[in-house]
Amino acid sequence: MKAKVGDDVFGEDPTVNELESMTAELFGMEAGLFCPSGTMTNQIAIKVHTQPGDEVICDKLSHIYQYEGGGIAFNSGCSVKLLDGDKGRITAEQVLEGINANQDFKASTSLVALENTTNRGGGSCYEFAEILAIKKVCEEHKLGFHLDGARIFNAIVAKKEAPRQYGDAFDSISVCLSKGLGTPVGSVLLGKTAFIKKARRVRKVFGGGMRQAGFLAAAGIYALENNINRLEEDHLHAMQIAEALAQADYSGEILPVETNIIVAEIKGRLNPVTFVEKMKGKGILVMNISSSQIRMVLHLVVTKEMVEKVISAIKAL
Ligand SMILES: Cc1ncc(COP(=O)(O)O)c(C=O)c1O
Repeated sequence: MKAKVGDDVFGEDPTVNELESMTAELFGMEAGLFCPSGTMTNQIAIKVHTQPGDEVICDKLSHIYQYEGGGIAFNSGCSVKLLDGDKGRITAEQVLEGINANQDFKASTSLVALENTTNRGGGSCYEFAEILAIKKVCEEHKLGFHLDGARIFNAIVAKKEAPRQYGDAFDSISVCLSKGLGTPVGSVLLGKTAFIKKARRVRKVFGGGMRQAGFLAAAGIYALENNINRLEEDHLHAMQIAEALAQADYSGEILPVETNIIVAEIKGRLNPVTFVEKMKGKGILVMNISSSQIRMVLHLVVTKEMVEKVISAIKAL
């Protein structure tokens, strides 16, 4: 609340400017744009990378397709080529096959979007070599390359990578400050200066130009300075909970826990709905995400003591 603020629509909020340049610097990219949500940073990126009638390549589970309200069609007038990846991750070979032939009757493929970590894929991370192989395909076919990095720091910490590797690989990156990093609001879109200049205009059109947003940006600066390395703790907690779930007689397949997300099948004497209800009765909020699966996500508010409580609850159900 002590942040110096101004009107960010005029580029005059010093704290927003600081957050944008700090995030860009961290990833070795030229410029950043602070937005209210990860949905907005993704949708702005898609809009800037494409023309109406183009096609976007992504995994069938990707957030940009599944959970952004049909925004690719609504905002950018594009169609989507959905690839059947592994837990939300696609390969260079699949991308190559997914590019439309240059024919008048085909939509023009112009963008490839990856997600790391993958939300619906249970927090899985890409192997960096695969990202580089996909980048090569994008370069050879002159396609934009966007990363939905809503949880990019979870991947960076889990895989012991560096943000600059991602900055070098992608044309644009959406980095969320909420989620595991723990701020109330916000996402930063990164790219080249000319790209971000266009993105600022689209942000205004989408209604994302904010006044006095420095109060929110200050939280983002704090998160980048303090909340990245501790993500390891969330990953450990997720693993501990998944281990307890694996021993329960009501659990089925649990997606491999690589970061802070647990996606588990619930079957037999419980189902996802009854599991959620029983956990709620013990003061633990869980989400059912399909007729057979539940999802739990760890973040900085969930302490070691709370994790112990969750594990006892899982054992006692
Ligand atoms: C992978 C991914 N991308 C984008 C978003 C969108 O972020 P927001 O909720 O800030 O719009 C989410 C939200 O959960 C997400 O998981």
